[in-house]
Amino acid sequence: MRNLNAENITGAVIEEFSGCQDERLKTILNSLVTHLHAFLREVEPTEQEWTQAIDFLTRTGQMCDDQRQEFILLSDTLGVTMLVDALNHQTSDPMVSESTVLGPFYVADPPQADQGASIDWNVEGEPLYVQGRVHDERGEPLANVVVDVWQSDSEGFYDVQKELESASLRARFTTDDQGRYAFWTVTPAPYPIPTDGPVGKMLEVTGRHPYRPAHVHFMLMADGCETLVTQIFAEDDPYLDSDAVFGVKDSLVRDFRLMPPGEAPDGRSMSSPYRHLKYDFGLKAS
Ligand code: BEZ
Ligand code: FE
Repeated sequence: MRNLNAENITGAVIEEFSGCQDERLKTILNSLVTHLHAFLREVEPTEQEWTQAIDFLTRTGQMCDDQRQEFILLSDTLGVTMLVDALNHQTSDPMVSESTVLGPFYVADPPQADQGASIDWNVEGEPLYVQGRVHDERGEPLANVVVDVWQSDSEGFYDVQKELESASLRARFTTDDQGRYAFWTVTPAPYPIPTDGPVGKMLEVTGRHPYRPAHVHFMLMADGCETLVTQIFAEDDPYLDSDAVFGVKDSLVRDFRLMPPGEAPDGRSMSSPYRHLKYDFGLKAS
């Protein structure tokens, strides 16, 4: 192929992939080239702007290591993570809980904890009692579901950001024979996503804030069911309608209800106010 120009170069590149044996890969690359070229024809970048774009992606890659994944953060802040989530997990069944973004602070195999245990190791904050049930699409309780939870502290920091010697505010529970889970924690706070890299710079120069509304993360795993990755958000949070990663859904917003001192739902005697969050999860059959 020769004498290519802005009109015919797209077809020439697609033609070069015509021998690709993997049909799915070929479809993906053809579409990528088509849309990428269309995007460039539309915005007509100057060569200086294109060099800036390459530099941005280079710095995004250089920011990545075992602990930090700036490309996922870029995907999150461009709404791509939630679009992929929507394309894969869209549900209109009210018996199935909605999913949202995983985020960078999940740690595999967290400490096991007993039903009703406190996970506020090494932190202080307003006590929060979280409880609920896990059921299938027909509403039948699911026993032995693995429920991983993780969250920020009341200043908005995860344990992995504080380099603690042991885990805090993350644990693994297993539902009982009635599908119940319960634990004590502290009320999480809204917090900024990491802003010390190119994604933070992008938010700054475009006038976007980096905050996520306060939430508790959940990952639920059960035999015969799709794994559910989700979060429950606090109803009174100022960032619900401007989450930096576009992860809020109405069905995931709940009152973290402020309770007066007295006897808590599990019989614990509380000398100061605390909060109470109830959430039932529905899992989809796999
Ligand atoms: C989080 O909720 O932990 C999170 C999600 C996406 C980007 C950064 C943080
Ligand atoms: Fe989070």
